[in-house]
Amino acid sequence: MNFASLTKEDLAGLLALEDFTPVYEQADQIRREAKGNQVHIRAILEFSNHCKRGCLYCGLNRRNQNVSRYRMKPEEILLTARSAYKAGYQTLVLQSGEDPYFKTDLLAELVKEIASWGMAVTVSCGEIRPAYGPLKKAGASRYLLKHETADALLYNRLHPEGSLADRIICLKELKALGFETGSGFMVGLPGQTLETLAEDLLLLKKLNCDMAGIGPFIPHPATPLKEAVPGSPELTKRCVALARILLPHCHLPATTALGVMDGREKETVFSCGANVVMRKVTPEPYKSLYEIYPAHLEPTDIPKDRALLEEQILALGRIPI
Ligand code: 5AD
Repeated sequence: MNFASLTKEDLAGLLALEDFTPVYEQADQIRREAKGNQVHIRAILEFSNHCKRGCLYCGLNRRNQNVSRYRMKPEEILLTARSAYKAGYQTLVLQSGEDPYFKTDLLAELVKEIASWGMAVTVSCGEIRPAYGPLKKAGASRYLLKHETADALLYNRLHPEGSLADRIICLKELKALGFETGSGFMVGLPGQTLETLAEDLLLLKKLNCDMAGIGPFIPHPATPLKEAVPGSPELTKRCVALARILLPHCHLPATTALGVMDGREKETVFSCGANVVMRKVTPEPYKSLYEIYPAHLEPTDIPKDRALLEEQILALGRIPI
């Protein structure tokens, strides 16, 4: 099969394969050739869980009254970022809900300070288009904004505010500004089909994404989708593998945090073509309050968590950086 020109039908067919092993092998080989054996470790700091949006799948949606909302103080954000830097993290992802409190100037100041230490700063704060230019100027090098689903109707159903078209405009603008741009999508959203996932993969390609976060949908009990069926980890890994084949140079995070996986999963988490892992550095009490989807999280110990992760990556024969 010619992997460079896979069509929607090809991709949907591949996702449905009984035995996906040859595709995983192909993805792993492409990863080795394009990205080598390095695994990039990214720190993620979730500095505010306020959000003005009402996305149906997300635990932080504005209608959820059961969540205590927090905003970290700028000093606290910088102190946490500094600890992450000292522990060896070279990249910090600053993530929040769409929180109008953090105006462009404040975000830009934070970015400028952190970037001045030599840390690469990624911003992940949603559709805040007027801020993109100033953030780039302040020294942010990457921006993460998942397209979530490439099916415009499904997108509308899940996002009472916004549209797929607006999302794509933002992503194109980020690219045009020179950001390393990350998109991505959820696997297993209610109403999604293998054809939708094929469209998701083709959209990553069309946008020429530098990064793509592909994760399983996990129902949150405080959302309208609480009764929905969770996304399949296997199907998620298949999507990551196909993303690697379509975009050999793309940064692809491993979908599940290494820490929460059992032995067997741990061994195979990077074998689908992934080359990045994200680690939360958000301190308690905030970490537990940033509940996009339910997860059992241990309190953060920045240096210890980093050291353990490095050990785990080395044990897989890969090089943590
Ligand atoms: N399950 C899985 N992923 C989710 N996200 C939000 N809610 C959920 C959920 N219930 C993802 C979205 C968003 C990112 C920050 O978290 O893809 O872009």
